[in-house]
Amino acid sequence: MNENVTHIYPIFDRMLTRTDKETLLGQRGRMVWFTGLSGSGKSTLAIALERELHRRGILCRILDGDNIRSGINNNLGFSEEDRIENIRRIAEIGRLFVDTGIVTLAAFISPSIAIRQMAARIVGEQDFLEVYVSTPLETCERRDVKGLYAKARRGEIRQFTGISAPFEAPEHPALRLDTSVLSVEQSVARLLELLLPKINPTI
Ligand code: ADX
Repeated sequence: MNENVTHIYPIFDRMLTRTDKETLLGQRGRMVWFTGLSGSGKSTLAIALERELHRRGILCRILDGDNIRSGINNNLGFSEEDRIENIRRIAEIGRLFVDTGIVTLAAFISPSIAIRQMAARIVGEQDFLEVYVSTPLETCERRDVKGLYAKARRGEIRQFTGISAPFEAPEHPALRLDTSVLSVEQSVARLLELLLPKINPTI
């Protein structure tokens, strides 16, 4: 932008910055992006992590299927095109939270490397922590919390991730958590170890 243009606005007309918000909150905004199969434990870990961070005085926001696919994205299905649009909107919303200094926890399958790269680009690579919930398909299918794997096996749901639609594992996640071998407490301990120094070095 032309410098003359930025300087014609008096100081009191300018929007407060992200740093202003972060200073107010005493924390830094970050995006923790959980990716993994349906039933892998993404939302469970996000919920448990949010509680631990909240207890430490850190303001968080969870974005997951419950608040996104039932609301702003209720016009989207599971075609490749719709999944891209789903994640694009989530990343844009996530960026608003991160820019407000809030630790944002997103729990979506986000099944391809390209889709997660798009999310990281929108949110900002430096603020984006990819967490791969690597629970094996057999475990997710055995849990079948929502009964969707059984339906997918019977062909009642098409393009179901892991059964009839692909899932590409992240190559270099910041963290990999397999909930078939780690307890929720163990996973949260690892998440805190990764996250706390990045959101408030004094905690
Ligand atoms: S994503 O692929 O676009 O990232 P998202 O995380 O929003 O998916 O939604 C996944 C959830 O939607 C699953 O946990 C499951 O409950 C439900 N679902 C319904 N149909 C499908 C499908 N075809 N593939 C995957 N998940 C589905």
